[in-house]
Amino acid sequence: MSFVHSVSASIPARTWLGSPTATPAQRVELVTALQVRPASIASKYFYDARGSALFEEITRLPEYYPTRTEQHILASHADVLAQQIAPGATVIEWGAGNCDKARQLCAWLAPQFFVALDISADCLRTGVRQLQVACPAVQVRAVVADLTLDLVLPADVPRERRVVFYPGSSIGNYDPPQALQLLQRMRALVGSDGALLLGVDLLKPKRVLEAAYDDAAGVTAAFNRNILRHVNRLIGSDFDEDDWAHKAFFNVDEKRIEMHLQARTEVHVRWPGGGRVFGAGESIHTENSYKYDLHGFTALLEGAGFAQVQAWTDAQNWFAVVLARP
Ligand code: AVJ
Repeated sequence: MSFVHSVSASIPARTWLGSPTATPAQRVELVTALQVRPASIASKYFYDARGSALFEEITRLPEYYPTRTEQHILASHADVLAQQIAPGATVIEWGAGNCDKARQLCAWLAPQFFVALDISADCLRTGVRQLQVACPAVQVRAVVADLTLDLVLPADVPRERRVVFYPGSSIGNYDPPQALQLLQRMRALVGSDGALLLGVDLLKPKRVLEAAYDDAAGVTAAFNRNILRHVNRLIGSDFDEDDWAHKAFFNVDEKRIEMHLQARTEVHVRWPGGGRVFGAGESIHTENSYKYDLHGFTALLEGAGFAQVQAWTDAQNWFAVVLARP
């Protein structure tokens, strides 16, 4: 196991909890987005240690169907996947988190290398340790990276037979033109003998979608508000979670779930060098989660240079797993 970039396995996890501040570029990105109208916070900032833990809790909620539906599809077709992706491949997981899915995939596919990429160092560190223990024959590599930026892989990662694994419909966080760009980057990363194994959430009745992003137990609300705590640590702002209400709705025209934080009263927020007043009812846009139909998504894949696309769905057609090749 080896870590690239700023992570060292010798630093105990507690050192990372709550301590990192933003890089200068992140600070500019965050402050600029908070100043404009409407304000926004990029959804990648959900995933501090607590945010990652809350997201894991979301994946187990009765209303949140994507994770278990995808899991069911993958498990049902594990044998076909193993035929399609022969042993010895190099699997690169985009946003590996706690590496739960990675352990399973390694058991099914027996890759030679598994490269876990994630923005959250805390989550990745424990995840790759468990992965390496569960799959001793696999060469595990971990890279902490902002996946919206250019990616540098460890030098010993083979170029041949790369498979990018991008589960969970995280592609939904990007608008379609950005999603196309990301798929093009993945196409370049895997080369002409590689593949992409990706999960995508499909269009379905609005009430099902909205319940998944506004659960009865309030876990998604806590996840949404937690982004403010993370921003406080990153830029030194003084957001108070209690001032903000969780809003999630399906935007039919844009085919996306939108999450917002809405000011319950007039809110004054300060940070070193600036601040902003939010009027009562004004909101901060924190996430888009686009939903696709399989035809539209296949067209997007083809546009990115993936000509051969195989897809599996569940009985309700709620979620799709696609295996795409150049
Ligand atoms: C991790 C981006 C796939 O969009 O469903 C879950 C994040 N946000 N509940 C999603 C999320 C609110 C999730 N993704």
